[in-house]
Amino acid sequence: MTADELDKRQAIIDACLRMNALGINQGTSGNISVRHQDGLLLTPTSVPCEAMTPDQIVFMAMDGSHSPGQRPSSEWRFHRDILKSRDDVNAVVHAHPTYSTTLAIMGMEIPPVHYMIAAAGGDSIRCAPYATFGTVELSEHAVRALEGRLACLLDHHGMIAIGKTLDKAMWLAVEVETLARQYHGCLQIGQPPLLSSAEIERVRQRMAGYGMSDE
Ligand code: 13P
Repeated sequence: MTADELDKRQAIIDACLRMNALGINQGTSGNISVRHQDGLLLTPTSVPCEAMTPDQIVFMAMDGSHSPGQRPSSEWRFHRDILKSRDDVNAVVHAHPTYSTTLAIMGMEIPPVHYMIAAAGGDSIRCAPYATFGTVELSEHAVRALEGRLACLLDHHGMIAIGKTLDKAMWLAVEVETLARQYHGCLQIGQPPLLSSAEIERVRQRMAGYGMSDE
């Protein structure tokens, strides 16, 4: 294994641990992938982050094949399909954070309640329709909900954030959960007033190069 590959494997584990520390992961539910050579490096299924070792990270080719004996995340399909269909993206983060998942259970998207929604690429964070975890159908729904966007919710399931780098995808995952929490808070008071699509577009332009934004 090259030093570059080992670094990527360790960075995936570190990001997993960070999701735990931030309270974004629920149990072993989160999974992460990073583009590597002509495939992807992906977290193993059902291994707690604290117990994950670099050799357990699975290298998967774009046809879904991997070394026998390795156990890729049950969500490998949408990780593979997102990386395959989006050459602007090199990292995929999936988790079941409480506020994002609460909205997803209600089948709600996140509307433009705050200008930071522009960091996810548009004036809403869509909610992909429900399909059983690990299925082709779920992957198709996720890829569609992410069209032109860098994040989506998954009905009755959780959220996905993607980015040019793992750091950017992680930053966005935290931001999406913050937006979900803010929207949830607003809904306790009433229907929040929304920013216009034109304003979100203006923010998107201004954000170019700002912080961890992918724009
Ligand atoms: P793993 O298979 O990666 O442990 O994750 C389960 C899960 O998050 C299903 O959505």
